[in-house]
Amino acid sequence: MLTKVHTGLDPVPGVWWQRAHKAEKIWVGIAFAWCMVLFAMMPLWHWKGGQNPSGVRTRVDPQAFYARTLRFAAEYRVGDDRGIPIVAPPPGSDVYLTAMSFQWYPILRLEEGKEYMLHLSALDVNHGFSLYPLNVNFAVVPGYDYALRVTPTASGDFRIVCNEFCGIGHHTMVGRVIVVGADGAPVADNARAAVRGGGDR
Ligand code: CUA
Repeated sequence: MLTKVHTGLDPVPGVWWQRAHKAEKIWVGIAFAWCMVLFAMMPLWHWKGGQNPSGVRTRVDPQAFYARTLRFAAEYRVGDDRGIPIVAPPPGSDVYLTAMSFQWYPILRLEEGKEYMLHLSALDVNHGFSLYPLNVNFAVVPGYDYALRVTPTASGDFRIVCNEFCGIGHHTMVGRVIVVGADGAPVADNARAAVRGGGDR
């Protein structure tokens, strides 16, 4: 006896070929319109929202980047904190920050309201740049120079927390960024992270 095999020539039993209900059409219409809104927001937020960075990533040799960071640190060094130089580059200049197991090098001393070109990279493995207590986060990847145009909008003594698990000392990997206020008022030195004024960005 021959078993009946289903082919595309015979409709399967059911009601799927019936016309869609009005409510279903409305629902699909709303979902499609919302898709378009979210799609439009991707490029819009890049320019308008300030949500995503407009940085440039270029390939770089990790050792060469670290050597550049050391030169930068030597050039603008104004002090030390437990062996790590505190570096005060002039506004508008290129600023270098290297992440390595398990420290951020060097400590940056920037001026509020002034623009800098921040170059971020890692010497060994992936690290995460997280500016505490602000909500600023970037992946720091060895072999890539991530250049970001930054203008500090708040003064204070900030901490850079590594938010990418990078090894046994990950939890100790804390760096510093000092932002001197536009009024030139001194920032509470070290002790604990302090923020004066500014927004949450
Ligand atoms: Cu560096 Cu975690």
